[in-house]
Formats: sequence, C-alpha cells, structure tokens
Amino acid sequence: MIDSFASFNTSEFQQRRIKLTQAMGEGLAIIPTSPETVRNRDSHYPYRFDSYFYYLTGFKEPESVVLLVAGKQNKSILFCRDKDLEREIWDGFRYGADAARDAFGFDEAYSINELDATVLKLLANQPKLYFSLGENASWDARVTSWLNTLRNQVRNGVGVPDDISDVCKLIDEMRLYKSLYEQNIMRKSANIAAAAHNRAMKFTRPGMMEYEMEAEFLHEFYRNGAQSPAYTSIVAGGANACTLHYNANNAKLNDGDLLLIDAGCELEGYASDITRTFPINGKFSAVQKDVYELVLNAQAAAIAKVNSENHWNAPHEAALDVLIQGFIDLKLCKGSKEAVFDSGTYSQFYMHRTGHWLGLDVHDAGEYQYSNQSRNTQKNNSQNWRMLEPGMTLTVEPGCYIRPAENVPEHFWNIGIRIEDDVLVTQDGSEVMTEKAVKTVTDIEALMQS
Ligand code: GLY
Ligand code: MN
Ligand code: MN
Repeated sequence: MIDSFASFNTSEFQQRRIKLTQAMGEGLAIIPTSPETVRNRDSHYPYRFDSYFYYLTGFKEPESVVLLVAGKQNKSILFCRDKDLEREIWDGFRYGADAARDAFGFDEAYSINELDATVLKLLANQPKLYFSLGENASWDARVTSWLNTLRNQVRNGVGVPDDISDVCKLIDEMRLYKSLYEQNIMRKSANIAAAAHNRAMKFTRPGMMEYEMEAEFLHEFYRNGAQSPAYTSIVAGGANACTLHYNANNAKLNDGDLLLIDAGCELEGYASDITRTFPINGKFSAVQKDVYELVLNAQAAAIAKVNSENHWNAPHEAALDVLIQGFIDLKLCKGSKEAVFDSGTYSQFYMHRTGHWLGLDVHDAGEYQYSNQSRNTQKNNSQNWRMLEPGMTLTVEPGCYIRPAENVPEHFWNIGIRIEDDVLVTQDGSEVMTEKAVKTVTDIEALMQS
C-alpha cells in the first residue's frame, strides 16, 4: 500500500541513497526521522516527518531511522515500527519492516526495537560516523552512548570511529538540485497554491475577517490533495501587512485597505510559497497602485536575473536597485541612489532579503555562498555567492512596508506590499512555477470584479 500519490517512484529514492553512500566514501550514516510532538495530554500536533530522512526514504511513519553503510559494500537499512493490530485499530496502518523494505526498496529492514543492537554491530570498526549532532538532544545522547559502548570494547580489538561528520551537509548539497520528479511535485504544489490565491481575490469583501480568508486557503489546499499548509498562513489586512511575520489573522478587512496574503501548501513534502497583495474592495487607490507597481517592477527585475549566468545574490541586487530608485521617486528616501544604498535608509521600507531556496522545507536546505573560493566563477563576487544552476528552486519576494513615521507623508502610512513567486532555474533561463497566481493591477482588478 504505497501512499496515494500516484507517481511515487521507489527508484528515485534508491538513487538518492546510492548517491549519498558514494559521497560518504566509507562509514556509517544514521538518519532518524522527527519525533511526534505532544500538543496537550494525549493529543499530538499533526505529524511531519524529518525532511532529510524523507528525502532519502519517502517513508512517512514516525519512529523510523535509516542507516546507510558505505564502503566495499553499500547498503541501506530501514528501522520502523512493528505491525501492531491493536495500535492500527486506534491509529491506522503501519507498514512493518518486511512490507516497508519491499515497497520502499531498502536492502534490509528491521523492527525499530532492533536499532541499538544493529547499530553497535555496524558502527564497530567504521572509520567515520555520519550523523547530525545538535539537532535533537535525545538522539545526541543515544549516539554518544553507542560510541561509549564501543569505546569500552577497544581492549577486545573493537575500532571506534574517530571522525564524526554532519551527514546533513552532504544531503543539503543533493537537495539543492531538484530532480525532474521533484520539479513535477513542486509545480503541482505551486498550482494548488496559485489557485488558492486567485480564489481568495474572488472571495474577499470589506467587512470579512482575516481568518475567513485563511479558511478559504485551507479549503483549497486540502480539497486539491495537499497534505497541509507549508507554513502558517499570513493573512494581513491594512497595517498588519507591515508586520512581516503577522499570523494572528483575526482582524476585520476594511474598505480601502490592502490585503497581503503569504500562503503556500505542502504536497508530498514539497512547499509552495506565494504572496499576493490586493485591494480589499477590488480597486487599487492611486497611491497603492504606485507602490504596488514599484514592487512588481522590482520583482520583474529580480526574476530576470534568475538564470545560470548569475549568482545567488543577483536577483536581490536587482530588486534593491529598482526599489531604491522608486523610494527616491516617491520621496520616501532622500539623496542619490548610492547615498540611499550606502546609508541603508531604504531599510526603513525594505528590510528583508529577496528570497530563499525552496523545497522540502519552505526555507530549504543548501548553502548560499561557496565555502571554497575557487568555485566562484564571477568577478565582483567578493562575498562568494554561489552560482545559480539548473534544478535549483528559489522564491523571489521583494516588498515595501511603510509604517507611520514623521519622515513619511501620511498618504503612504500602513501600506504593506509583498509579491512572492517560486522560480525554477532551467537550462535556458527560469520558469516561474507560480505564474498562474494573477499579479498585475489590471488582472487583479478584473478577477476581483468578475
Ligand atoms: N512564507 C515564508 C517566507 O516567505 O519566507
Ligand atoms: Mn518566502
Ligand atoms: Mn512567503
């Protein structure tokens, strides 16, 4: 019984495990999934697997661990919960080791109760342990106790790994490049979220509550097969949009204000992350339109830089360039472009970066700068930003947030705008995966009045 997602591809996950063992060289990797988290008494938060574990396995059950043995002989071993009729009557289906091994293509699979004994056997005499220390204190303690058990046996000739390396660093580099299989899921995740944003524009009316719009998003996500929101939706009317991580979502939507919604879904583990900002009454005022089109132009300039000719920071630099000129033109900032950039006065209105990697985590894995200077292939890249490459996925999300202040004309007060899309770097440029979510002034007004 493979999960309902029709195109689950066992060999995709096997290939990832093989690639990781090749990167490891020789040693043992231990990658546990996330623990379940109690919400209160015997209620739990909805379970979400660990992204690294899931990337290597496709397996969604809690209380699971994957071991990868790399060396002369490579193999992958899953540990999972036993079949248990009593627990399955209460909580639902469990694979059990044998069925999980066959369905998910592991070389071996055992009960989670056999983990201690098996790790001790496999870890003995390994030159290197691959484990991510510092993520979870109880796993750190368990790994330490395995190492100490082996250290107590050195007089019997047992070798203990003297090198512990962060396995997640190796997986981060793999996760950064999305396969065709992943791109396909991400496109679907993007389409579901885009449809939800378009639906929200159609439904919004003055007098509604922010949480009613949040409910519309959940409705659209779940009815299209997404498993959850990818993060807590931000539904921010009027001044609330100037709080970057606003998520109280409990205020009334007022005629004449803008509504900023930052919401995306998670489909088979993969996040979409879209922000749209639109007028609650369906028509931008003149000043709202001026600021909106500035942010939209900044986003277009940034998206134009998403291609494999450029480094990670080029889209941010392009967005900032447009925004700073716009802040000067709107008389929000004073002085030359250079002066506004150097003094940082623009950050009163734009105080975050223009994007992040996107994937299994909404702020996804992967380094933004090369640690090795020699991989930097561009001049004027003193910060060693890594080059964009086909298969990388990122958000492009400039904004403008104008809080009331003495140095700001009052007609701008409380305008908060962000426009965010999800972009894939391709062989010949880029693909905006979220392009179905409307965003020009004309298209938004037409949709809202339809
Ligand atoms: N929704 C989170 C972000 O835009 O980074
Ligand atoms: Mn984002
Ligand atoms: Mn977002």
